[in-house]
Amino acid sequence: MDSLNFLNELNVKHAAMRFGTPVFIYSQKILEDQAQKALDMPNAFGLTVRYAMKANSNESILRLLDRKGVLIDASSSHEVERALNAGIPRRNILLTTQELPHRLFQDVGWVEVNLTSIEQIRNYKSFSLHTESLDNKVSIRVNPGLGSGGTNRTNVGGPSSSFGIWHEDFDKALNLINDYGFGVKRLHTHIGSGSDPKVWEKVALMSLNYAEKLVKENHPLEILNLGGGYKVGRMDDEESIDLQRSGEFIKKAFEDFYDENGVKLRLEIEPGTFLMANAGVLVSRVIDVVKTSDYTFIKTDTGMTEVTRPSLYGAQHPLFLFPSNSRKDEPNEYVVVGHCCESGDILTPERDNPEKISTRTLRETEIGDLLVIGGVGAYCSSMSAKNYNSFPEAPEVLIDRSENFHLIRKRQTLDQIVQNEIVPKFLS
Ligand code: LLP
Repeated sequence: MDSLNFLNELNVKHAAMRFGTPVFIYSQKILEDQAQKALDMPNAFGLTVRYAMKANSNESILRLLDRKGVLIDASSSHEVERALNAGIPRRNILLTTQELPHRLFQDVGWVEVNLTSIEQIRNYKSFSLHTESLDNKVSIRVNPGLGSGGTNRTNVGGPSSSFGIWHEDFDKALNLINDYGFGVKRLHTHIGSGSDPKVWEKVALMSLNYAEKLVKENHPLEILNLGGGYKVGRMDDEESIDLQRSGEFIKKAFEDFYDENGVKLRLEIEPGTFLMANAGVLVSRVIDVVKTSDYTFIKTDTGMTEVTRPSLYGAQHPLFLFPSNSRKDEPNEYVVVGHCCESGDILTPERDNPEKISTRTLRETEIGDLLVIGGVGAYCSSMSAKNYNSFPEAPEVLIDRSENFHLIRKRQTLDQIVQNEIVPKFLS
């Protein structure tokens, strides 16, 4: 991103004045345009797009995507509740979770679940003993033995990943499913975030081999869900996936599958990053500029309290500086850091290496300038080191198509930060 994709200097300054800093700003237009691109992905026999709501679970975002016809991929029963509270119809939610609560159906009511381990298949059986009307057609997630992520930490396929039924246990899982009298209606794979499209395509073909096995064993297979993970470039030198191209590839593979097996599979995808990443920016303020023998540091009033991706993955986010006064535009090399008392709170790590700092060329920076961080729509507000150093959760603002600003989450107060603490009598 050479320039800010949906804000200009004027509305950055306006937002900072009106809502204070740091503040997340999301664009309705970009979100809806991305949703449309996903909905237009070529397919052979139908397509369902689910939003991986872990990327950003704000109710207004969920509502916008619901209105576009995008369904929900939830990753915990809490996300299911949150989606239901946002008015998402129950039938539009699929739960794929590491932690399948023992009281799931009592707590949240019926919801479609994607079983991701042998133990979860057993649990589902015990649910079915207590919950009448539980569907006998189940959904299973397989770890196909191959994964691909933008970084090692976002690769969730292969032997180093606990997600999904390990492919060598596929037959064991099927035996259990058959013994319980269930049938598999959906097969699911998700191999990582920021996946290499070539690996994703290869895994799609591997998944179709598992699908073939299911069809041959007379399972009522209807859907192949190929997860999320679609690469989106946040920086200018980072590539984005071409969903049209990958879609054409998959379309052909589904058609071949139909020719060979007589089953028209529906394609399901569940992007988070693709929909949200570049639909959000964070407006922050420079609070200090300090020098050591080696570096000049810009300190900001944000950091890991809003954006953990750089410190977790060495992820790169574009930075834009808006000076608070007119001055000579002399670029400089800066390390940009957050406001936490934590040396890992950095916004300019080495690419893919959070252990090392790097520098960014920015306009000459002074205290009071505004610094905008791009590409923060996904996995920032929802994945922050919330309340570390007791900093309050930042507000979130949505810009609608007519450029009106709507506050969609207020800044947290100190009372809200401590509201669940209880002081025992002997200390009071
Ligand atoms: N489906 C499942 C089962 C997932 O676990 C995820 C992400 C997605 C879909 C959506 O993946 P996406 O399209 O957003 O890549 N926090 C990281 C990514 C890890 C996400 C984990 N699961 C990041 O900041 O990039």
